[in-house]
Amino acid sequence: MEEKINIPLNGMYVFKPHEEFVKKANINDPSVYERAEYDFLGFWEELAENIDWFNKWDDVLKWEPPHAEWFLGGKLNASYNCLDRHIDKLGDKIAILWEGETGELRTYTYSELLAATSRFASALKNLGVKKGDIVTIYLPMIPEAVISMLACARIGAPHSVVFAGFSADSLAQRINDAGSKLLITCDGYCRRGKVLNHKGKSDDALSKSEFIEKVVVVQHENNDVSMEPGRDVWWHDIVKSSDPSCEPEVMDSEDMLFLMYTSGTTGNPKGVVHTTGGYMVGTYITSNWIFDLKEDDIYWCTADVGWITGHSYLVYGPLSNGATVLMYEGAPDYPDKNRFWDIIEKHKVSIFYTAPTVIRTFMKWGTHWVYKHDLSTLRLIGSVGEPINPSAWLWYYETIGGGRCPLVDTWWQTETGMILITPLPGITDLKPGSATRPFPGIKAVVLDDFGNELVDGTGGHLAVKTPWPSMMRTIYNDEQRFIDTYWSKWGLETYLSSDGARLDKDGYFWIRGREDDVIMVAGHRLGSAEIESGLVSHPLVAEAAVIGRFDDIKGQSIFCYVTLESGAVECEELRGELVDHVIEEVGPIARPKGIVFVDEMPKTRSGKIMRRVLKAIANGEELGDVTTLQDPTVVEDLRRKVESFFERC
Ligand code: WTA
Repeated sequence: MEEKINIPLNGMYVFKPHEEFVKKANINDPSVYERAEYDFLGFWEELAENIDWFNKWDDVLKWEPPHAEWFLGGKLNASYNCLDRHIDKLGDKIAILWEGETGELRTYTYSELLAATSRFASALKNLGVKKGDIVTIYLPMIPEAVISMLACARIGAPHSVVFAGFSADSLAQRINDAGSKLLITCDGYCRRGKVLNHKGKSDDALSKSEFIEKVVVVQHENNDVSMEPGRDVWWHDIVKSSDPSCEPEVMDSEDMLFLMYTSGTTGNPKGVVHTTGGYMVGTYITSNWIFDLKEDDIYWCTADVGWITGHSYLVYGPLSNGATVLMYEGAPDYPDKNRFWDIIEKHKVSIFYTAPTVIRTFMKWGTHWVYKHDLSTLRLIGSVGEPINPSAWLWYYETIGGGRCPLVDTWWQTETGMILITPLPGITDLKPGSATRPFPGIKAVVLDDFGNELVDGTGGHLAVKTPWPSMMRTIYNDEQRFIDTYWSKWGLETYLSSDGARLDKDGYFWIRGREDDVIMVAGHRLGSAEIESGLVSHPLVAEAAVIGRFDDIKGQSIFCYVTLESGAVECEELRGELVDHVIEEVGPIARPKGIVFVDEMPKTRSGKIMRRVLKAIANGEELGDVTTLQDPTVVEDLRRKVESFFERC
């Protein structure tokens, strides 16, 4: 049964913060915005006091556009801030509350998490990992993923976590770019009741990489795996004999904390570099103010640790706040569609942070799954990863939040490290579908093509004009790409987000989604080019172009245009084979929803495929100017092919 809410959209409704919430909110004084504006450096400096430093900084900011350094000379350790500093007061408090897909529960108090992290950190050192070595982590949603990240941070070895759903090829590509010598993986994990052979996938990746010398394997499922002598070691074996204590390494504020590979406009994902001091300050304070974390909250972020949301708002932000973090291994509909609400009810979750796709999926499945459960412990709900349409927003607010929980729609990116546009729940009036206002200290703007600010509701490009502590520092191994991608359009001082947005008369931001060749599928970020290079690696594919097609549940779906090598026969079997091939090459999250065989791609005179045209055709939109096409007649053929594809579906 599908629930539909038909309401007028775009700012017709305004929800004011409830008085009770405001009274107790971590931040409820609206003057914080002005304070940040008139004393930008003082504002951030004061917030940096929330982090424990071994040595205070000498200067708050060095801004040599586009390079920012924050809290210069400051010394700290991220794992110390997430663990050690809480022990006196919160040692027995649960840090991680983990639920496996089969229902197994595991908890770690702060003391236990510190102990497990220290032991594993010592084990990593015993395996030869040194400060500055990049460790690749390829783990699903299990506690060892968090422990691995914190252990790396503890010994000053930047981590690069690769989403477990990515393919062996994607993993190999990331290992090779980072030059990682050590990989942390597991035997297998559960997905919808099936045990996936994760070690096998890792081994495939290693056959394409020369760097890895050691592999640590978590025994999670007890499935049969082969261990290569001399290379592979079991996690449980190496921690048995390792030193239970491990002093946190003294790190410079600007030392790299982690690399996070993310999709861009070329086939090679970008290694986004985040450093320690600014990132910890940014994620600490945004977690505290936006999620309003309190001592007794049970906080659940549904994002996977393999994405930036998992880094900032499942690990570093909430743990540096001493929060209890719920971590769930599996699918939202396993064993049935009660699962998410069952988890909230059972564990008395009070803060719930998820993606619009999850919300739209549950809207479709129907409220009866929700109403069977007592969700009254919830006091704040959040959204991230894609634009949330006003009707989904209202459904989330009313059906899940019971009309009493502030809903924080948070806009940010892998590159920004922390949330940049968001309500502050004790201050901001909410408008369904708007991420509302920039966080204090953030000067976000909407610009036209020439860099003029648009404030009259006209759509334009979302940009940021001030530096912020947790901003990316560079692209690993590719400084030029960093400058070209983010800092070239309007000069070195203006960060280009590649999202479209508009600003309403109240200064509220309405994010419209990506303007580049990045596709957001269910909040997961994928590059057209990555999927295209997967497709063309099939022997029968001559050329491929991949675009995002509007999808009312997942935001966007993957739609592919393919020209075949001469002699190849267009048929359903081949279509299925290509779908499997993409899954094999990139991972199941990149599963194409549609593949259309075409005779020719629409190209400019210089031979560049015009994805804009392909996108418009797949979405049934106006084509706009096609005079630059080499051969405008291909458009008709494309249209016919797409129409007949949908007729058959
Ligand atoms: C999109 C995820 C609208 C956006 C944190 C951005 C959003 C991309 C929102 C980054 C939001 C994220 N409203 N769109 N609240 N949050 N996005 O790097 O297109 O995986 O550019 O980081 O997600 O995706 P990424």
